Formats: sequence, structure tokens, C-alpha cells
Amino acid sequence: SEITNRPGKEKVAREIAAKVKDGDVLGVGSGSTVYLALIAIAERVKNEGLNIKAISTSLEISMFCSKLGIPQTTLYEHQPYWLFDGADEVGPGNGLIKGRGGALFKEKLLLASSPLNYIIVDESKQVERLGQNFPIPVEVFPQALPLVANELKKLGAEDIKLRPAKGKDGPVITENNNLILDCRFHHIPTSLEKDIKSITGVIESGLFLGYDVHIMVAGNSL
Ligand code: A5P
Repeated sequence: SEITNRPGKEKVAREIAAKVKDGDVLGVGSGSTVYLALIAIAERVKNEGLNIKAISTSLEISMFCSKLGIPQTTLYEHQPYWLFDGADEVGPGNGLIKGRGGALFKEKLLLASSPLNYIIVDESKQVERLGQNFPIPVEVFPQALPLVANELKKLGAEDIKLRPAKGKDGPVITENNNLILDCRFHHIPTSLEKDIKSITGVIESGLFLGYDVHIMVAGNSL
């Protein structure tokens, strides 16, 4: 698919690739910036004979690692030494909204499992108020949908949409066989991530508040 701000993203992708050391176990997020970083990493693996392993957050990224010849492992065998991922919004205090690609559960699981996290974004992702451009995605166990939607309304969700699938009828089914509710919140208090998570039937949300992340912003020039 089309990669916007490609030169800027390629620059930040090379910066990520430069951090890779022989023997690393890398957590690999999702999105176009991650995709470019993987290409740059694969080049180093090939040219320098680096021995690394990747833990991916989605089937798409896993297939891309295979295509690039990057060996993979799982959270059963390894913890990531560090991780890189994109984001849909970066707000004040490095709060994030993620999950446009539907892989929010594995993205948060990997980030929570990793001691060092780089978030790679272009300038368009930086917002003054979290939630200003993107809704918060919430992954929901299918039969809990009515209960969860009702509880989300009580938490202040103004517009709740079941994410539709592309290329098939019906909703998006996540890699964990769940559904996604995209929820608009006007106000995001610091308790909201935990409040959403405490609803029975919620697997995870794409709201990331208070995580220790380093933000790397891709500019427009090379
Ligand atoms: C995927 O679920 C999101 O969290 C991504 O990290 C996000 O959409 C970033 O994508 P781009 O790098 O393509 O903007």
C-alpha cells in the first residue's frame, strides 16, 4: 500500500536499523514505518551476517519477516531485548493510540514485555489532544459486544462503531478471533486505559498511557 512521507520514514527506519546488534531479539510492531525498518534491518543482516531473531505482532509482519529471511521466535522462547513500533497518534506525555491495523493486543503485549521501546512516527501523528484524529480501538470477545458497548458508553464513548472488514462481508475478525469497536472519546482521563480494560469481555484497548517509550519522529527531508 501507499507509504506517505516515505523519505522521512526511510530515514527513521535506517536509524532503527543502526541500533540492531548481533544476537538481538527484536520486538517488531506493525505499519508502514515498521515495514521500512524491517527492509533496512534485513539489509544489515545480509551484508554483515548478523544473527538476530524477531518476535512479530501480526501475521502480516510475520510473513514479511519470512520473506526477508529474518528468523523469528515467540514469547514462549524469548523476551524482546527491545522493540520498535509505529503509532496512530502520539499525544502529550507520550500517550499513544495504536491499533489501526487491528493488532493492538499483541502490540501491547510485546511492548509490556520489552524493556526498551522505540515508537517511530511521522510528524502527522503528533497531536495536541489524544483522540483528536483517531478513535480508540477496543478488542472485544464477540459475545460480550452488547455488554462492552454499554459499559463503554458509561465511560464516555460518544461514537462506537464495529470495525467493518475489507474484502469480506461483516466485521473485522482479529487474529485472536475477536471483534474491534472503534470508540470516540472527547476527554481521555489518565484512568481510561484501566477503566476500559476492567470491563469483562474486553481483551485490550489501543490506548497506551504512561508507558516508557522513546518517540522517534520522521521529518520531511532526507
Ligand atoms: C497498527 O495496529 C498501528 O498501531 C500502527 O503502529 C500504526 O497504524 C502505524 O502505521 P504507519 O507506520 O503506517 O503510520
